[in-house]
Amino acid sequence: MARYFLSIIGIAAALAFTAELARAQDITLPDLSTAARKGGVLFMGKCAQCHGYYAQGAKKGPPLLHPYYRPGHHADQAFWNAIRNGSRQHHWSFGDMKRVEGVSDEQVPQIIQYVRELQQANGIF
Ligand code: HEC
Repeated sequence: MARYFLSIIGIAAALAFTAELARAQDITLPDLSTAARKGGVLFMGKCAQCHGYYAQGAKKGPPLLHPYYRPGHHADQAFWNAIRNGSRQHHWSFGDMKRVEGVSDEQVPQIIQYVRELQQANGIF
């Protein structure tokens, strides 16, 4: 039980923290839809270590807030493929992306929604 509450506090703290960071880095955090909020929490757990909390990129992976990944160039199917099968290094030099475990078929669209809403708010499409 205590652990449950700690994890809730952790998520709230992470969201507040990332909002601060986003402001500092000039990234617009839009008013996320419910699906995108769920996706954002998942993104922080499963993707942020490489792609950054709000998809701005990090030491181990590229930004998804980048024109390469706009819907016309990387449609939602590319996200499904990357999550389910991984992705060979081709656009950058961070190495390959391994498949991501523990993301359900219901959760993948939420993660995509999070990235799309961030992309849209930041003028990627
Ligand atoms: C361990 C690091 C790592 C994690 C974790 C990770 N990625 Fe990636 N991802 C990468 C790297 C590195 C690339 C770039 C490969 C290239 O194009 O050179 C990439 C590429 C991608 C691409 C583009 C694929 C393509 O078709 O070009 C998408 C979409 C993507 N990641 C989404 C995600 C999502 C969503 C998650 C979480 C569910 C995630 N990644 C987790 C490292 C990671």
